[in-house]
Amino acid sequence: MISSHDCPMPGEHLDTRRMPGHWLLARLGKRVLRPGGLELTHRMLDGLKIGRHDRVVEVAPGMGSTAALTLSKQPASYIAIDRDEAAVAQVARQLNGSTQRCRVGHAHETGLPDGEATVFYGEAMLTMQPEAMKRRIIAEAFRCLQSGGRYGIHEMSLTPEDLGEALKQDIQKDLSAAIHVGARPLTPEEWRALLEAEGFVVESVAKAPMHLLEAGRFVRDEGVAGSLRFLWNLLRDREALARVLEMRSVFRRHMAHMGAIALVARKP
Ligand SMILES: C[S@@+](CC[C@H](N)C(=O)[O-])C[C@H]1O[C@@H](n2cnc3c(N)ncnc32)[C@H](O)[C@@H]1O
Repeated sequence: MISSHDCPMPGEHLDTRRMPGHWLLARLGKRVLRPGGLELTHRMLDGLKIGRHDRVVEVAPGMGSTAALTLSKQPASYIAIDRDEAAVAQVARQLNGSTQRCRVGHAHETGLPDGEATVFYGEAMLTMQPEAMKRRIIAEAFRCLQSGGRYGIHEMSLTPEDLGEALKQDIQKDLSAAIHVGARPLTPEEWRALLEAEGFVVESVAKAPMHLLEAGRFVRDEGVAGSLRFLWNLLRDREALARVLEMRSVFRRHMAHMGAIALVARKP
């Protein structure tokens, strides 16, 4: 587990009441910032089958906890791109040698050559993009991958497929207000359709409950010591406590209609 000592934290200059929920959780010590937790990350990574010959690109690595899992597989190369400078600094501390790099950039224009990657993935980052930007990022993954390359995503989902438009809008509005980031989750079939529209063939779909702030998941993701550290930091900060309780109450209010999803797809 990486520590944040001597390294700026993402969003640390922002007001607690306004900062994006994921950076607030990170500041309090949370490292796994995605809806399906480590369990769904492992299922995505199982589908991506990263090996020593792979050239891996990760977009939006955040605090870098999946980066550590990927690097343990010793791929031929690893490039991470995040739009947040402090997140890039956090990830860079884990990297070694010229085949492992991390830089500030945008997932829809990575600047990488065509066919550079054999594996490309991003977690908890498409949900926060408007539809047109979701498409541009998926198209960029397609461009960067060589033929036969694998693409993985891990995002928030909505259920059931025929969820009414009014309820969908309610969930989006409540979520966005609580996490202070525009949140536009899709149903499993909508996620699949989005990948297929950019040319991918979906190979696997895995699902998990949206339990980001539930005790059992929290301990499985952060460990007992990490969870206690988070709790200690939380109880000493009244504004942060109010925000986290608000986030959890929105997640619980819509729990029946929200989930986490990981898809792995292949570029033909
Ligand atoms: C919710 S955090 C998820 C971090 C990490 N993937 C995880 O699952 O723990 C969202 C991350 O996406 C990054 N991000 C959002 N939009 C991005 C974009 N268009 N290009 C690159 N990074 C982006 C943010 O800076 C942040 O690091």
